[in-house]
Amino acid sequence: MSVALPSRPLGSTGLAVSALGLGAGRIGGPETTDADVDRLLGTALELGVTLVDTARSYGASEERLGRSLQGRRRSVVLSTKLGYGVPGVPDWTGPSIEAGVDGALERLRTEIIDLVHLHSCPREVLERGEVIEALHRSVRMGKVRVAAYSGENEALDWAVRSGAFGVVQCSVSLVDQGVLSGALPEAERRGVGVLAKRPLGNAPWRFETRPDAPDVAEAWERFGVLQLDPAGLAWDALAARFAAFSPGVSAILVGTASPAHLALAARAIAEGPLPDVVLDPIHAAHARAGQGWPGRI
Ligand SMILES: NC(=O)c1ccc[n+]([C@@H]2O[C@H](COP(=O)([O-])OP(=O)(O)OC[C@H]3O[C@@H](n4cnc5c(N)ncnc54)[C@H](OP(=O)(O)O)[C@@H]3O)[C@@H](O)[C@H]2O)c1
Repeated sequence: MSVALPSRPLGSTGLAVSALGLGAGRIGGPETTDADVDRLLGTALELGVTLVDTARSYGASEERLGRSLQGRRRSVVLSTKLGYGVPGVPDWTGPSIEAGVDGALERLRTEIIDLVHLHSCPREVLERGEVIEALHRSVRMGKVRVAAYSGENEALDWAVRSGAFGVVQCSVSLVDQGVLSGALPEAERRGVGVLAKRPLGNAPWRFETRPDAPDVAEAWERFGVLQLDPAGLAWDALAARFAAFSPGVSAILVGTASPAHLALAARAIAEGPLPDVVLDPIHAAHARAGQGWPGRI
């Protein structure tokens, strides 16, 4: 099972992460059992995955990870996202961050969370300062190791330049190339770690016809417009390698409930960067047809 998964510094945080992280957005629903999560996490650790990302809004994902990580918490850099959904507390306020951190600590059954992202927090809220101050207080209190931001477009650009965050999370994929010439080089210059979300572009090649979910439908439409040639590679391997080796990306967060799919991504990354003969037409297709596509939140 062992594959040569690279480990990389996470910006200037002092943490290191495997180039492949487990996106735990698909293990929060009723179709998933605790035993499924144990198996998925077991496979992740065997593969050398040392990064797991969840969020308050991913159903029972945090609780299940908390249970499954008992006894192996130190094996992973644990990341979550919050800012909303605390009963009786208005979203995107200082108290929603502080109570959100306390709730996440409890659900994840840990004493410290490595990365806490403000989850799609609008730019105006960031600029007000209150939520950033509350997150920094959680860091000073030893509840959170690194303050992080997750989002897109002008809010992401603001977050990268603000100096307030050690890590940002944004969409990077075949159908999400806008950040390659914007937020990513800026983050790299500033020592901000970057986690690539939706790295497979929601795997749009799976669908013959327009999928129902609006975010996946948008990816599918973009994929149709780009008319990419997989150059003889499997789409999943091509997509994983594209995102994982995009300059500035510290790690990709593949969203999966399937140990087999996680292993496919790990093996693809172990193959290394795509050769220029494959990469150049992908960038050219985006330059031709994808200019101005906004970042998919
Ligand atoms: N901050 C945010 O607002 C935000 C938003 C979106 C995502 N994220 C983060 O990024 C992670 C990934 O995002 P995502 O799940 O939206 O997108 P993604 O990783 O690009 O795509 C995941 C989809 O592809 C499927 N898949 C995975 N490997 C496959 C393979 N080898 N062949 C075919 N299908 C495959 C998965 O289904 P299976 O379960 O069947 O593998 C799932 O439906 C999330 O878990 C989360 O951590 C964050």
